[in-house]
Amino acid sequence: MRTSAAVVTFFVLCFAAAGAHAAPFAEGFRKCQECHEPEVEVWKQTKHFKSYNEIHKKESAAKILAAAGGGASMRQNSTCVMCHYTETKASETAKPQVASGPSCESCHGASSEFRDVHNFYGDGVADAGKEAPANKAKRIAAATKAGMVWSFMTYDIAANCMDCHGLAQPKLKGDVLAKMLEAGHPGEPEFELVRYSQGSVRHRYYPPNVNVNAEMNPADLARLYIVGQAAKLVSSTTAAGKSTNAQYAALQKKREQDSRTALQSVADMPEVKAVLDKPSADSARKLADALKGKDLSAKVKAQLPAKTTYK
Ligand code: HEC
Ligand code: HEC
Ligand code: HEC
Ligand code: HEC
Repeated sequence: MRTSAAVVTFFVLCFAAAGAHAAPFAEGFRKCQECHEPEVEVWKQTKHFKSYNEIHKKESAAKILAAAGGGASMRQNSTCVMCHYTETKASETAKPQVASGPSCESCHGASSEFRDVHNFYGDGVADAGKEAPANKAKRIAAATKAGMVWSFMTYDIAANCMDCHGLAQPKLKGDVLAKMLEAGHPGEPEFELVRYSQGSVRHRYYPPNVNVNAEMNPADLARLYIVGQAAKLVSSTTAAGKSTNAQYAALQKKREQDSRTALQSVADMPEVKAVLDKPSADSARKLADALKGKDLSAKVKAQLPAKTTYK
């Protein structure tokens, strides 16, 4: 039997289209471990990892669970799962399973579509040093399109933190979040990116010293602080519209006001003003880009958290 070229082309196109549109799913930290051992070791010392065996035993857990529709356990309640766990699948059609606490893919994006793309230096090219510049640009763009959140996408990483820290998860209804808040769930208006990311969570094994978990310099810290406040402003103003509940509205108002106050010291920067005037992912990403290479440490020095308070 002869298969016509047109039929073959048709199927190839279908597959290409299906590949491009497959919804990314999380695969779990073990998939990352073979190449990212140091990062996994750091993560295992964090609350994100340890929480898996502890959080449901907290005294307040039962009441909060009941407020969000109840169920047999936190791991079986889809609302809790969204922030407290990583739900992984072995393949696109497999059943999802709760596999760990928040993990690599909670911050860097579900990996099924980007994993084989993000480290592809080109056919037969084994290391980054020999990669063609054109391949690098293509690789970064393709992995990003497939859902990867790179380390240099600081606003997008910060936005991921804010989805969980601040009861602002965009995929959840405001009424549920408000009921959880009333049942005693923390709302964490105090979450500040430098303090929360540069303690136990910090993993910065960058070239040339890939064996050193490098601390940030003052300029890095200042940029991160500003992007974190911008992300908090976007998150709180978006979440505020989700519910009319008074306690929930007050939480989001506090988050909004705190971030607006924090940004005053750098409000002369046009990109900061744009975020203050119209908080959105778009204006915050532009700010993060504009900050690259800038040292604003003198302006925010007094606001930066002391190292001893890092989480
Ligand atoms: C087969 C090896 C391999 C596996 C498996 C792997 N990675 Fe990577 N990853 C790499 C390499 C190599 C790089 C460096 C890419 C470069 O040069 O830009 C990298 C880079 C990264 C970076 C970006 C670093 C930066 O500077 O932004 C992140 C984030 C990342 N990987 C996350 C993951 C996650 C999450 C997983 C698991 C789901 C994973 N990787 C699995 C090899 C791997
Ligand atoms: C929007 C994200 C989000 C959702 C949804 C969520 N949590 Fe949480 N939860 C968090 C974060 C973040 C913390 C850590 C807060 C902190 O460290 O102060 C936390 C902390 C907790 C704590 C510890 C409280 C304490 O005082 O130490 C309990 C208990 C808890 N959550 C229960 C639940 C239950 C039960 C559900 C499901 C009904 C749930 N959470 C859903 C994000 C969430
Ligand atoms: C709580 C969010 C969060 C989690 C969880 C997380 N990362 Fe990251 N990751 C970040 C942030 C933020 C950066 C940027 C660090 C910087 O440049 O200061 C980063 C940077 C990286 C980098 C580049 C720096 C380096 O160490 O080479 C890699 C690779 C990486 N992450 C891999 C992983 C892997 C693998 C896991 C799971 C074990 C993981 N990350 C878990 C937030 C997270
Ligand atoms: C998928 C949801 C999720 C994301 C995304 C997330 N976290 Fe968390 N984080 C949690 C939960 C849930 C806890 C609470 C664990 C517990 O109390 O057992 C937590 C706890 C923490 C803690 C410990 C707090 C303490 O009081 O000891 C730190 C620090 C932290 N997160 C930082 C970050 C940072 C920084 C980011 C972004 C780079 C981030 N998290 C992203 C869900 C998340």
